[in-house]
Amino acid sequence: MDSNKRPESMARITTLELANAFIEEQVTAIRKQVGDKKVLLALSGGVDSSVVAALLIKAIGRQLVCVHVNHGLMRKGESEQVIEVFGKALDANLIYVDATDRFLDLLAGVAEPEKKRKIIGGEFIKVFDEEASKLEGISFLAQGTIYPDILESKGVKAHHNVGGLPEGMQFELVEPVKLLYKDEVRVVGEALGLPHGMVYRQPFPGPGLGVRCLGAITRDRLHALREADAILREEFDLAGLAEHVWQYFIAVPDFKSVGVRNDARYEGWPAIIRAVNTTDAMTATIEEIPYAVLHKITSRITHEVEGINRVLYDLTPKPIGTIEWE
Ligand code: XMP
Repeated sequence: MDSNKRPESMARITTLELANAFIEEQVTAIRKQVGDKKVLLALSGGVDSSVVAALLIKAIGRQLVCVHVNHGLMRKGESEQVIEVFGKALDANLIYVDATDRFLDLLAGVAEPEKKRKIIGGEFIKVFDEEASKLEGISFLAQGTIYPDILESKGVKAHHNVGGLPEGMQFELVEPVKLLYKDEVRVVGEALGLPHGMVYRQPFPGPGLGVRCLGAITRDRLHALREADAILREEFDLAGLAEHVWQYFIAVPDFKSVGVRNDARYEGWPAIIRAVNTTDAMTATIEEIPYAVLHKITSRITHEVEGINRVLYDLTPKPIGTIEWE
């Protein structure tokens, strides 16, 4: 039997009851596969790796070693949440690596989008590899592969994903959610007690804010982007938009315009809001955000974020605009 093929008889996991049955089944299977050996997992804090982590912690506790690499391109509060949820609440064996300086130093002056992606992906593998080689007795590598990844493995997503297996690393794989669709992974995550916000969060590209801080990344503009993005997320939550808009974020280009603040000339970057709906990310439509919400976001960002003096709303569907700006 092909273990990468979802059996037709497998029911869609839509309820807590079905999720619990899946969890029990997987806990047994993981214990059987792993025995008393150690398992390594790159924990990004995204939905898939978080659910795999929680499942493995339930099955084998501290035999799981989670490595969270903060590449300095996370959204505000994300690495902190990983530490809070996994390091503290679930008592995971968590190694936190703040590699911000390594990534930002390498990216300094690099403006070309694909080059930026390659640097981020390559450095991620390097940092993970370095951490892994410091550990002893690791026999398995866990991955948050989900069923669409298997179905699309020759398609777009393969080159999208940051990370992967460092060359020369010989581990057996543990992929407990590889036959699940995203909605099922979320139901399982909630059944495992992960925070709702973590399990239902919007997709976030592997290179993170790196592809939203357009052109050559600078620390001050990256900081402004992160703060503006946090305000956007807060206001979308308050307005009830977070529940139904598929993906929303800020991009900050690397040019300034003239503005005025406190009666003085104030040059700053524009913050561009992108908020789209889609089912498969191949095409996307624009969310109609109430003007009152847009005004509030504009006012907060221009008053609270140092360096930003304008807020723009991107009205371009995909095609012709891609979802990300680069
Ligand atoms: P585009 O910009 O191609 O994006 O319309 C489609 C979806 O893919 C996400 N995306 C990425 N995800 N690594 C990822 O893991 C990447 O390099 C990357 N680029 C785009 C994007 O956020 C959207 O959801």
